[in-house]
Amino acid sequence: MSFYEQICVEFEFFLKQSAPKVEGFHPHFQKAFWEMMECGGKRFRPKLLFCVVCSLNPTLARNAFLPALALECLHTYSLIHDDLPAMDNAPLRRGCPTLHKSYDETVATLVGDGLNTYAFYLLSIAKLDADTRICLVKELSENGGINGMIIGQAMDCYFEKQSLEISSLETIHIHKTAKLIATALKMGAIIADASAQVQNVLYEFGLKLGLFFQIRDDIIDATLTANQAGKTTHKDIEKNSYVNLLGLQGAKQKAKGLQELILNDLKNLENDLSEKLRILLKGYFE
Ligand code: IPE
Ligand code: IPE
Ligand code: MG
Ligand code: MG
Ligand code: MG
Repeated sequence: MSFYEQICVEFEFFLKQSAPKVEGFHPHFQKAFWEMMECGGKRFRPKLLFCVVCSLNPTLARNAFLPALALECLHTYSLIHDDLPAMDNAPLRRGCPTLHKSYDETVATLVGDGLNTYAFYLLSIAKLDADTRICLVKELSENGGINGMIIGQAMDCYFEKQSLEISSLETIHIHKTAKLIATALKMGAIIADASAQVQNVLYEFGLKLGLFFQIRDDIIDATLTANQAGKTTHKDIEKNSYVNLLGLQGAKQKAKGLQELILNDLKNLENDLSEKLRILLKGYFE
């Protein structure tokens, strides 16, 4: 097992034993709080972060656990809220019933809120110097926040039932999904103390990768069963999705084109990082 693979395995253990203690006498909030974190998930964003840290500054790999957990908390919160009846109204996520199904909408909403704020608490206590922690807070709040994932989700939901131009759909996908993926790589570079230039190159690469990831997700929605995907599919019927705007073949072509650009960009990254990302991404490419 490579050091990077070892770190990913350790991180999964770390995540499972990191459920915070919830105070008070709510009968099931404590149980509900970490449930969607543990249910499963590919851990794509933490893995991107670990690829960067393990390649550029491996001695800091374990110091990256708390920031990686923060990223996964924020992402999981976005999924819990995405599945709520007020948004995509989905009953299945990560192979488990969604929290508003297992419990109720109040619990699901508040678990999401709790994971959102907990993410920034985790960044604040990371075993990294104070300047680095502040940079990470800024990155995650910008990209996961109002001018990132949040506005992306708002546009995605608002323009349901209204067909947009493909360039507008790209803007939605960049915001709701690609920015968080780009910041996973950039946060890795910040932790590794890489130059601003390396941080920017990885961020720009991540935007392309994130767009690819969301188009692939649109294709998953149209082509896989809920069983295969581990989440409710065929939910995008009224949404702006690449499949709805370009057709399945068009969406696949667009994804293929991005895949080629991504593979090409990999050649310009540092060798070890390029190789780690190539192996990780192989599982996502056709
Ligand atoms: C699903 O993200 C939502 C999108 C941004 C497409 P993932 O496909 O990374 O979901 P998990 O974390 O593996 O459950
Ligand atoms: C969600 O996009 C992106 C998020 C910010 C959570 P989708 O609504 O397509 O994600 P899935 O298909 O439900 O996982
Ligand atoms: Mg959605
Ligand atoms: Mg959804
Ligand atoms: Mg989807």
